[in-house]
Amino acid sequence: MSTIKLSNGLDIPVIGFGTWQLTENVETVIAEALKVGYRHIDTAAIYKNETEIGNALQHTDVDRSSIFLTSKVWNTDRGYDNTLAAFEKSLERLQTDYLDLYLIHWPANNKNHPDAKEINVATWRAMQTLYKSGKVKAIGLSNFLKHHVEDILETAEIKPMVNQLEFHPGYLQEDTVSFCKANNIVVQAWSPLGSGRLLDDSFLKEISARYNVSVATLCLQFALQEGLVVLPKSVNPKNIDSNLNFEKFKISDEDMRLIKGMSEKGFSGSHPDSLEF
Ligand SMILES: NC(=O)c1ccc[n+]([C@@H]2O[C@H](COP(=O)([O-])OP(=O)(O)OC[C@H]3O[C@@H](n4cnc5c(N)ncnc54)[C@H](OP(=O)(O)O)[C@@H]3O)[C@@H](O)[C@H]2O)c1
Repeated sequence: MSTIKLSNGLDIPVIGFGTWQLTENVETVIAEALKVGYRHIDTAAIYKNETEIGNALQHTDVDRSSIFLTSKVWNTDRGYDNTLAAFEKSLERLQTDYLDLYLIHWPANNKNHPDAKEINVATWRAMQTLYKSGKVKAIGLSNFLKHHVEDILETAEIKPMVNQLEFHPGYLQEDTVSFCKANNIVVQAWSPLGSGRLLDDSFLKEISARYNVSVATLCLQFALQEGLVVLPKSVNPKNIDSNLNFEKFKISDEDMRLIKGMSEKGFSGSHPDSLEF
């Protein structure tokens, strides 16, 4: 399993298993993912599957220490004290005594919170406390645009190590991604397949045919070649396997340029500055 190093030296597997909307047969699906070789699982309190993922981790032969486990604090738990408490609840549900990565799921935004910046800074202070306690090996953000990250960096004692963003052909968030790279913040691509919305795109089909791969594989390799970590999700054993164990190949510079030039496609519609939650 290929890994890249976070700014604190921690190795993160470049392909993680996404679990949003995974609420049925969770234990079986996670067992399948571990069987074919995933060693990185991405969940969140709001996904309501931490307990089942914890059960799967209890029942596997794979050692906890070789699994990179991420969860996220939900929007209703922002702020210093609430975040510390939410973290403990996630640990309990996941039946583990540490996380590899803990993220702030979404920034508070000015649309809903006049004191959004203060809320985000207070939440980040809790993340720092958790990191110093040793209960989490790395801390980071999710859905923080450049200006939200800047707010955190202004006063951060410990810089975020990760920012998890929607990223796929047709939605590249170039400003935020390049800002994160420049600040040594690893970007994780959520919905790397556009939640399935890209898979029948004729332009991507044409490019993927040149490499004799599926559109899904092309999307994953595209993000990996951009230096991102990818978090594909599937409940189909064949897709679970092929999203991790595809044969190595390289997308040519010209095709990378063509993919980057695509017009917007597959956007989830969730924008951090206008979101209601
Ligand atoms: N931080 C955040 O706010 C945030 C937001 C959204 C997502 N995420 C994370 O990112 C993960 C991935 O995003 P996502 O779940 O939206 O979607 P995704 O991984 O982009 O796409 C999943 C969809 O693609 C299909 N699929 C997967 N592999 C395939 C393959 N090889 N061939 C054909 N179809 C394939 C799946 O169907 P099958 O099951 O039939 O294969 C499913 O419908 C989430 O699970 C979550 O962990 C984070």
